[in-house]
Amino acid sequence: MTYRIAFLPGDGVGPEVANAARQVMEGAARVHNIALSFEEHAFGGAAIDETGDPLPEMTMRAAREADAVFLGAVGGPKWDSAPVRPEAGLLRLRKDLGVFANLRPVVCMRGLEAFSPLKESRVVGLDLLIVRELTGGLYFGAREEGEAHASDRCDYAREDVERVARIAFEAARKRKSRVVSVDKANVLATSRLWRRTVSRLHGEEYEDIDLAHELVDALAMKLVSAPSQFDVILTENLFGDILSDEASALAGSIGLAPSASLGQGRRGLYEPIHGAAPDIAGLDRANPVGAILSGAMLFRRSLGAEAAAASIETAIANVLARGCRTQDFEGSESCSSFTGKVLDVLEDATVEWQ
Ligand code: NAD
Ligand code: IPM
Ligand code: MN
Repeated sequence: MTYRIAFLPGDGVGPEVANAARQVMEGAARVHNIALSFEEHAFGGAAIDETGDPLPEMTMRAAREADAVFLGAVGGPKWDSAPVRPEAGLLRLRKDLGVFANLRPVVCMRGLEAFSPLKESRVVGLDLLIVRELTGGLYFGAREEGEAHASDRCDYAREDVERVARIAFEAARKRKSRVVSVDKANVLATSRLWRRTVSRLHGEEYEDIDLAHELVDALAMKLVSAPSQFDVILTENLFGDILSDEASALAGSIGLAPSASLGQGRRGLYEPIHGAAPDIAGLDRANPVGAILSGAMLFRRSLGAEAAAASIETAIANVLARGCRTQDFEGSESCSSFTGKVLDVLEDATVEWQ
């Protein structure tokens, strides 16, 4: 059977890193005899320019019908004051696909510890997973926007919390069996609901997991003081957005961080956590690793192709171990030359470089 991937490159560095990931996914598919077909569709600012809509109906239909969706990034100054922003298309896509759990792993790779803004001793062995609720909270509540007054409403229902907490507990069972649930229960009603629901589910089904609760301000502090203590961090939409950018920097660059957004079934949406990076767009300078590792997550989660996923991760580790670095790691590789090296390693494990 041929797996269908809806391919949405988007804006800024989106197309640069998405195409890098696509080449690597196609390489891994060849090596592992997997049939893939990529269908490219307009999305984000590029789709606003073409059709006036960041998520045209054709793109949405292709995404719904695909086995998985791969996305670069959207946004940029050109559309910052457009009546509909590119980001609105991304939120609609996530909601419509029902991908309520966003998995954002952050790993400090061996040999890159010196690039962390923290002391090396604090990031050695850093390997955490942020599980971010993705289709609720402030992002999707009623919004009012006037000249002199604006409001954003935060809603969560018990079921919204329970289903994403379940994903975090299940993930923890395959890792170090520790979950920290992050909220602002000293102020917010939604956070108190969040804490009660997580605790109840833990007591009923996941007592084998070590669960702790932290307030988001303290957690942000602990993340930059002693990040290696964390295994799975479970949190709501906005806190997860902020904490995942913060956590990614600990591993050296936001350019390394991948993500998978999952719902009830196997289908998912895969994208690096970074944005369109307008400051480096068009320069072939973006680090493609976050996008390429998102491709590995796609193979693992949506296609059940563990060997192909692992071969992509190993190829990235090997290329980095050989000292190849993009500019965010003070290196001289471009997005495309780095990707070429990943492909060489992936397709021929015996490849030798001078
Ligand atoms: P950003 O993530 O685009 O960039 C933040 C900083 O990180 C910049 O200095 C950028 O150069 C750097 N960076 C990002 N990706 C990199 C990579 N692959 N390699 C090397 N350096 C990289 O965040 P921003 O500047 O706040 O946002 C720019 C636009 O992107 C905004 O319109 C925002 O809404 C949008 N955005 C989109 C997504 C998405 O599509 N999922 C995510 C975040 C931001
Ligand atoms: C991300 C981005 C998006 C978010 C924006 C572009 C809507 O920052 O994927 O982290 O806030 O979820
Ligand atoms: Mn973000």
